[in-house]
Amino acid sequence: MTNRAHWSGRLAFVLAAAGSAVGLGNMWKFPYITGTNGGGAFVLIYLLCIAVVGIPIFIAELYIGQQGQKNAVEAFEVVHKNRTPWRGIGAVGILSAVLILSFYSVVGGWVLDFEFRSIIGEFMMESDDKIKATLGSLFENSHRQLFWHLIFMGLAVGVVIGGVKNGLERWNKILMPALITILVGLFFYSTSLDGFGRSMGFLFSFNWENLTAAGVLEAVGHAFFTLSLGMGAIITYGSYLQKRTELARTAMMVAFLDTAIALIAGAVIFSIVFTYGFEAGSGPSLMFETLPMLFVKLTGGFWVSIVFFLLVAVAALTSAVSLLEVIVAYWEEKHNMKRWKATLLWGLIIWAVGVLCVLSISGDSPGGIDFFGIFDMLTSQYFLPIGGLLISLFFGWVLGPRAVEHVVGKEAQWAAQGLLWTSRVLAPLAVAIAVGNKIINS
Ligand code: TRP
Repeated sequence: MTNRAHWSGRLAFVLAAAGSAVGLGNMWKFPYITGTNGGGAFVLIYLLCIAVVGIPIFIAELYIGQQGQKNAVEAFEVVHKNRTPWRGIGAVGILSAVLILSFYSVVGGWVLDFEFRSIIGEFMMESDDKIKATLGSLFENSHRQLFWHLIFMGLAVGVVIGGVKNGLERWNKILMPALITILVGLFFYSTSLDGFGRSMGFLFSFNWENLTAAGVLEAVGHAFFTLSLGMGAIITYGSYLQKRTELARTAMMVAFLDTAIALIAGAVIFSIVFTYGFEAGSGPSLMFETLPMLFVKLTGGFWVSIVFFLLVAVAALTSAVSLLEVIVAYWEEKHNMKRWKATLLWGLIIWAVGVLCVLSISGDSPGGIDFFGIFDMLTSQYFLPIGGLLISLFFGWVLGPRAVEHVVGKEAQWAAQGLLWTSRVLAPLAVAIAVGNKIINS
């Protein structure tokens, strides 16, 4: 175990973990599910979930990884000191990683396609209606989607093959600061749009009538999805931490970055939505329809659109890499396979599963099954929250006070008790209520 790879320091870890957390979940999914769920009240529930459920479970996963120094399945056994059924959480996590990455990579492919269209100046030459129809026409074109899906998986494979220091760390260190800079620039730009005020109102004023049981579960599920929780990604990244690295503040830093970036992305997108009279609740197409239309109207919009889609592609890539790493780390250790072989093997398998997602988007899937929607719903609304619930119970009850003390130190008694009972009772209960409520109401 002495030769296990490690991050070069805490900053490297924070950037890599933020790279995992900040992704399509922030730039694409958060704005559109906020739109379909009516805004402010949904955002508030989501923020509560990050604080009460997300951060404690983030800490628990970090601890399991850091102390286990193993992949997401075997780390449970190391910290438990025995063979234990709790390792099943990691096993389901591997399955979740495959399912999530299969559709995630398809959306990543759409982003690459939009980046390509930006570079060749396609949006600049077209009318608003045609721009708006771009995503729809891409949906019908399964070959084009499959091509970009392949490129996207290829990029993720390329980074993961490099390993922890020369792959994950190296790319996150460059790409994350670039992403934050571009986004902040866009945010300042959006404050000058007429719709900025309404955008803020939409995100931060509460309209409880709009919130449903399904909406609450979606907020809970998204808190897991956006922090990359509930399936072992943070366990895996945590396993590359030195055993002494401080965890609590590290977790809060990552959660803060992730949340801030989601809110800023939401503010930018809804400013455009309200300025140009788009439909806030238009669903998954939201980002792909709104932004190119804005870009054509901007001076220098040609460049802005290139930079913007590059930003989203980067965010997606650093997240996809963390999903693939969960599987590769497991396969490499468990089957003693070379990293490059394990990465290629799983890259290929996941690409193939993603073909089902593409076909369900283009309307050609076997039996008309919506694989894309099912994989997304199944993982983010059930596997991740339930995985997170179990991790929380494992941390609170099985590892207990000793683990908590390791995280918060001996002096801070109130913090220790707070973390202990949040992970024993509060977080599991909140998740159970959200999932149970949805099942009863559906
Ligand atoms: N958090 C990423 C996003 O918001 C997606 C992601 C990466 C993820 N790794 C994960 C989601 C692990 C769930 C589990 O886009």
